Amino acid sequence: MKTFPKNFYWGAATASYQVEGWNENTDWAKAAKEERVPSAGRLADHYHRYEEDFDIAKELGHNAHRFSIEWARIEPEEGKFDFAEIEHYRDVLKALRARNIEPFITLWHFTLPLWFSERGGFERKDAPQVFARYCAFVVKELGDLCHFFSTMNEPNVFGSNGWLRGSWPPFKRFAATDLVSITNSGRTFESRAQRGLRPVFLYRRVMRNLAQAHNQAYTAIKAERPDVNVSVVKHVIYFHANWNPLNIIKAWVANQLWTHVYMRRTRHHLDSVGLNYYFHKKFGDRTHYEKTDMDWDIYPQGIYGSLRMLWKYKKPIFISEAGLADKADKYRAAYITEQVRAAQRALEAGVDLRGHMYWSLMDNYEWALGVEKCFGLVAINYQTLERTIRPSAWEYKKIIEANGVELG
Ligand code: BGC
Repeated sequence: MKTFPKNFYWGAATASYQVEGWNENTDWAKAAKEERVPSAGRLADHYHRYEEDFDIAKELGHNAHRFSIEWARIEPEEGKFDFAEIEHYRDVLKALRARNIEPFITLWHFTLPLWFSERGGFERKDAPQVFARYCAFVVKELGDLCHFFSTMNEPNVFGSNGWLRGSWPPFKRFAATDLVSITNSGRTFESRAQRGLRPVFLYRRVMRNLAQAHNQAYTAIKAERPDVNVSVVKHVIYFHANWNPLNIIKAWVANQLWTHVYMRRTRHHLDSVGLNYYFHKKFGDRTHYEKTDMDWDIYPQGIYGSLRMLWKYKKPIFISEAGLADKADKYRAAYITEQVRAAQRALEAGVDLRGHMYWSLMDNYEWALGVEKCFGLVAINYQTLERTIRPSAWEYKKIIEANGVELG
């Protein structure tokens, strides 16, 4: 059996807006006040309870942890940086280091400072420079405590939900009429759509700007601290097909559009790549799959094809997120086992895989769906803030201790 290398990183991931609580100076908090998305509020209060949460991660055998910095806290007004917040994140990093847990920072995970979104966010021509300045500042201030930085999380998810599906800020989408109704977390609201194809063009512009933003951030970070490792966190949907040539072509096109376009634009500005894997789509497939609480097919083995897809770019890969919403903890242990097994097969096939971070360490705010969907190894009681370790977390610990699973 081939297990993972000795220095393999095992852990879990979180993101600031989803767990910290009270990130009010953001586009999402504004959208919540307008009742377009559920309010976040205190959530797990991880901003104050990170020590307790890292104790749990340690107890669960983790030696790595991915988390994100809230841009709106660091740069609450354009060009003004808040050093008290830098101190806060320095304390977070020290708390991880004290437990021998390697930190992986994501500099931006979906939520934007209000000032930035109100002046056009990533639609603006100068967005890449603004973003690069922020990233370089953070890495300058935190780079002595952290080696691994990702500039951004899932650019395609951010772009398509904001400009094509219209379910996330800034709620734009193609429509024949001015008003469209959007349902988030069971609540329907009327949103001002842009008539005609304009959102599609804006989406294309945003996607280009996001690639540029990453590239410029990479260069600016390297000018500050050439030694840190810089990546992008890419959401990969594993599109595949049955025997039908037409379906094979469909899958190929979908993989190009969803994964390869962005990767080609950024491939020369990457030291490594983060893979977020959640689902697959098999064209021409009638199989009935069991579903997660998100109604996504339970298909952990799809991570193999996703890893192979990213390996095309020949950069070391970290699984930066993979997991499922499963409040009853019915499928999670088996899911993690299967997914690690598939990742191990990818390793055997030559993929330079360096780490695996389950999504998520704890239950959190699942964006437009609120707190109902539970991805956590640790359950959160939002009334008492009590943390309860789910049984599957111990199964994950066994995998970590064995540094892999038996290949079946
Ligand atoms: C995101 C997370 C999200 C998770 C589950 C990923 O797309 O990075 O923020 O909670 O998927 O939907």
